[in-house]
Amino acid sequence: MDKFVIRGGNPLLGTIRVSGAKNAALPAMAAALLTDEPVILENIPQVRDIETTRKLLSAMGAEVELGYGRAQHRTTISCRQIASPEASYELVKTMRASTLVLGPLVARCGRARVSLPGGCAIGARPIDLHIRGLERLGATINQEHGYVEAVARRLKGAEIRFDKVTVTGTEDLLMAASLAEGETLMSNCAREPEVVDLADLLNKMGARIEGAGTPTIRIQGVERLHGAKHRIIPDRIEAATFLIAAVLTSGDLNVSGCEPGHLGALLEQLSSMGVKTARSQESVRVIGDSPLRAADVVTEEYPGFPTDVQAQYMALATQVQGTSTITENIFENRFMHAQELGRMGANIKIEGSRAIVRGKSPLSGAAVLASDLRASASLVLAALVADGETIIDRVYHIDRGYERIEEKLRAVGAQIRRIGEILPKKATAPAV
Ligand code: UD1
Repeated sequence: MDKFVIRGGNPLLGTIRVSGAKNAALPAMAAALLTDEPVILENIPQVRDIETTRKLLSAMGAEVELGYGRAQHRTTISCRQIASPEASYELVKTMRASTLVLGPLVARCGRARVSLPGGCAIGARPIDLHIRGLERLGATINQEHGYVEAVARRLKGAEIRFDKVTVTGTEDLLMAASLAEGETLMSNCAREPEVVDLADLLNKMGARIEGAGTPTIRIQGVERLHGAKHRIIPDRIEAATFLIAAVLTSGDLNVSGCEPGHLGALLEQLSSMGVKTARSQESVRVIGDSPLRAADVVTEEYPGFPTDVQAQYMALATQVQGTSTITENIFENRFMHAQELGRMGANIKIEGSRAIVRGKSPLSGAAVLASDLRASASLVLAALVADGETIIDRVYHIDRGYERIEEKLRAVGAQIRRIGEILPKKATAPAV
């Protein structure tokens, strides 16, 4: 298991480039299941969740070419035949987004068998809304032995209202409804840019989707979808992580290759704290040397402040004079990082879904444990300003969603290195 060793104190200076959005690439790869023609996706991030999805699709009989290089981070997926419309527990347990194959498989093959994801470090995370939506589209659902099995000769368009806004739920049903017979009207949909990106891809494949990015999406089902080429949007969560890193370290950092329009809630939040930023069409520069004010934040569905940036924001709040209240509205147990930040010297009190952060506390390097993807990012950020050396264990969590984060941060001045676990040496027989 790899670890990061980080020595704090250096401001981040220069330009850092954002990769493609993991959370847009995952549904896009699942969408390739809807056609027997090749789907070409560009700007695919080189992260572990993409590799897991490659394994998942390959196990079903898809051909997945994945190539990374300076100019192309590209995958070509051909699902000429789906030998086995199944997603095993072994894969789903390492990446909950595997459930994104449920809708496409039942729409294309008339049958899908997908492991239920079970618990997760940040909360219960059920998939009841995916299941109920598929039932509305006419699928018969059976749950046993930890798997959900969906069967339908052909899905039929229907009205679906989500009781709660769900990102992958909206995406899963968007894909299923694209091949259903007739019209589907979905309301209370997620409005995340990743949902819009998926709808753009599906429309390029011949789907007829209107309204993605608004709460109501209308889908006219079609008989078949064809191949397409699509470029994945930039990762707004990675961009947000770098922007916060720049503020924290009082750096001067240009975050390039991003979509500033997707970062509205964070940029407003930073501005209310007194941070100076300058935007261009595809970059945001942070000049992080202004005095900062504490500011409360509440996580919400897009376009609100993202839950995926809450942990990183908490690291920043520890370094601002005054008290900041952070309210987590999306997941019930997403404060695992607070305890580890506390071990580095932060003053954080958790009261139900609220974290009260009292700053500014000097942070000191410590041995800490990454508990999930975004929690690991918050520990990296805290370590960048901590006094001395921090060792972060279980960085495989961060590798799920950040492409070579240590190389990117090192190139703009951070002192960060990756070390592999040092295994105890085997006893060897004395030489004779
Ligand atoms: C996606 C993102 C994740 C992000 C989250 C919220 C991907 C691959 N992951 O996760 O990074 O943190 O959106 O922005 O895009 N819920 C139910 N029943 C369901 C589905 C969801 O009750 O069937 C609840 C969840 O427990 C949670 C809330 O709805 O409380 C939102 O979850 P959801 O939007 O579905 O998150 P994901 O799509 O899993």
